[in-house]
Amino acid sequence: MKVLICYFSATGNTGQIAQAINDRLGQLGAEVELKNVTALEARQEPVSLATYDAVIFGSPIHSMRSPRLFREWLATLEGNGKRCATFFTYGGFQIHPAPFDTRRRLQERGFVVVASATFPGAHTYNLAGWQSMQGRPDQQDLDLAAEYAQKLYPRLSGQDQAVLTELDPGPYTQEQLDEFESFRFKMGAMLPNRQGAECQMCLLCQEQCPSGAMDAETGVADPAKCIVCLQCVKDCPDEALKVGDMTPFFQFKMDKDKETPESLRQKRGTLYF
Ligand SMILES: Cc1cc2nc3c(=O)[nH]c(=O)nc-3n(C[C@H](O)[C@H](O)[C@H](O)COP(=O)(O)O)c2cc1C
Ligand code: SF4
Ligand code: SF4
Repeated sequence: MKVLICYFSATGNTGQIAQAINDRLGQLGAEVELKNVTALEARQEPVSLATYDAVIFGSPIHSMRSPRLFREWLATLEGNGKRCATFFTYGGFQIHPAPFDTRRRLQERGFVVVASATFPGAHTYNLAGWQSMQGRPDQQDLDLAAEYAQKLYPRLSGQDQAVLTELDPGPYTQEQLDEFESFRFKMGAMLPNRQGAECQMCLLCQEQCPSGAMDAETGVADPAKCIVCLQCVKDCPDEALKVGDMTPFFQFKMDKDKETPESLRQKRGTLYF
């Protein structure tokens, strides 16, 4: 069986899970290829899925869905009845409807979705003062990703003809989800900014920005394009790019969701078959 794993990963969590799935499928005898579609150029390349028996799609959860750029890329694909599976990493808070929403989008493109999974990953906003899921995915998360691959194999190969049925559609409409998504982009404090500081001008932030939003010269992100994935903040070798302190918002979120540091630590991934 020849499998393509396509994943979007701004700060590396989803990439780690993709690698664990890749490794286990390889051990099981599958011929597996990893395709990282985080970079703008990677999503602009034409994709031919014809030579693969099955595809696996992985992304972080951004505002309860996959990131807008990933959704837009999925809308360009042709499934032609191919079997596929999805997986997500999330920062300890809301998950749904990401698996449901992504399945619907893939079905609209002609894919048959056979399974899904979610795995905790250090919250991106830890780069702005949050403290959720530090050190995740950990070894137990990676072991669960391997278990997912193991269970997935017969579904992807068609040896097991079952498909994914029950998934939580979540409580929100698409309009509400759009509103949640756009809200954070209106908060200027969250947009990465070098604040006039000097840096070595390596251009990494501009060249690797998934949305083409960052201007290395000015050190300012374009609010119309930036998805606040914070890849540029994490990867800047000079640690020159900053976002506003989101610590107060973290406490608000913890109280609102009735979470404690312990309840977050206890969270594990879920496999959906
Ligand atoms: C804009 C944005 C929105 C996010 N929304 C959610 C969310 O709705 N629920 C959640 O648990 N985590 C959320 N997160 C956290 C990420 O899902 C999590 O950190 C993920 O593992 C990042 O994956 P990556 O390292 O592959 O980019 C969000 C992160 C960002 C940047
Ligand atoms: S990644 Fe950092 S050092 Fe490199 S150009 Fe951007 S801000 Fe400057
Ligand atoms: S400018 Fe925005 S979209 Fe680009 S890497 Fe930085 S946070 Fe992500």
